Amino acid sequence: MQKFTYCVPTEIIFGKDTERECGKMVKRHGGKKVLIVYGGGSVRHSGLLERVEHSLEEEGISYVECGGVTPNPRLSFAEMGVKKGIEEGVDFILAVGGGSTIDAAKAIAHGTANPGVSLWDIWTKKESLTKTLKVGAVLTISAAGSETSDSAVLTNEATGKKLGLGTELNRPVFAIMNPELTYTLPKYQIGCGIADIMMHTLERYFIPDQKNRMTDEIAEGLLRTVIDSGRMAMKRLDDYDAMSELMWCGSLSHNLTGLGREKDFSVHKLGHALSARFDCAHGATLASVWGAWAWYVWERDIARFAHYAKQVWGIERDEISAAKEGIERTIAYFEEIGMPTSISGLGIGVLEDETLKELALDATMNDTVRLSLIRPLSAEDVLEIFRKANY
Ligand code: NZQ
Ligand code: ZN
Repeated sequence: MQKFTYCVPTEIIFGKDTERECGKMVKRHGGKKVLIVYGGGSVRHSGLLERVEHSLEEEGISYVECGGVTPNPRLSFAEMGVKKGIEEGVDFILAVGGGSTIDAAKAIAHGTANPGVSLWDIWTKKESLTKTLKVGAVLTISAAGSETSDSAVLTNEATGKKLGLGTELNRPVFAIMNPELTYTLPKYQIGCGIADIMMHTLERYFIPDQKNRMTDEIAEGLLRTVIDSGRMAMKRLDDYDAMSELMWCGSLSHNLTGLGREKDFSVHKLGHALSARFDCAHGATLASVWGAWAWYVWERDIARFAHYAKQVWGIERDEISAAKEGIERTIAYFEEIGMPTSISGLGIGVLEDETLKELALDATMNDTVRLSLIRPLSAEDVLEIFRKANY
């Protein structure tokens, strides 16, 4: 095991009706005036926003709304939220929604706590971040894991770049996780969430240093749970047990499945390049290229792919055919849950080679970083992967 620090300070309040505890939680964390950040309207239509506001009112906490976060949240929205937060003198940011909303809330918290500092400079680490406002989250989709994670992702629409910021200051102080809140999700978004949760685990699993059995066992158990629960959730959208498993796995996949080893988020880099340019749903971008990535790298560590096939898919046979079948079963599963397994499946057609070259440069920061630890990938390699996925 490599050296690691484990500290996930987010208090989790899990289960039915837990959104009603929102006011108490904000109060406990000293919030007196709250900026409620939410997305395109699902939380208003479902009545959740009203329940959250009622819970704040019960504790005598005042609030202002800041709605309109889009999937793949934009820098300009976060800047608008910062302006509002400062003008209104808020001292707590409450995200009600999914990963996009929670990430926007984290960005707004950083900006509001640092008036006069450019948010993008904070994001690109030109300005160091030493303070922020407290953020709480009421989660409505099991996917990104942002409710407990140390990261947040923003798209700068001026530069067309989608970038993550990792810092302990990104961790929400509490996360309210009521699986019933996910019953209103469209099937496609459930599929995106499942793909994303799996990918957060797979990206930490296919790395060269594998001497960490406990971390492996957690990752494999989590993957099996997500695969089974995902199937159940797709059959019955109000299956509380299945939705509970997905919700808990969404958080754990971002905090537990890679301890004691390096983290490799290469498929995410490819996905972010696609999302930044075509505004596709995050989980779908990952599913669309994972197969091409796996077929490009698998021969560098056949034993690992075979181990994955055995532990997660129950495939026991010679290493080479097991490794191959593990990849095929994963791709077939993505198809089963309605996820694209090629670029055209994202609804953006088959792309021109010039576009693929630009995407490969975006994913590798103009060929300055190598992706994937088991087979380091240059922009040229990433281009080959995009070409493989481009049908
Ligand atoms: O905006 P509303 O109207 O709420 O609709 C959303 C949105 O259209 C809808 N939705 C969410 N909960 C719903 C619902 N619709 C009906 N009923 C509900 N209960 O679903 C759509 C997608 O929401 P979004 O928040 O974008 O989904 P997700 O949680 O997948 O977040 C994706 C974002 O998170 C980032 C991604 O890059 C992407 O920008 N990520 C954040 C990470 C982090 N902070 O740790 C890590 C991840 O790897 C990921 O990169
Ligand atoms: Zn992700």
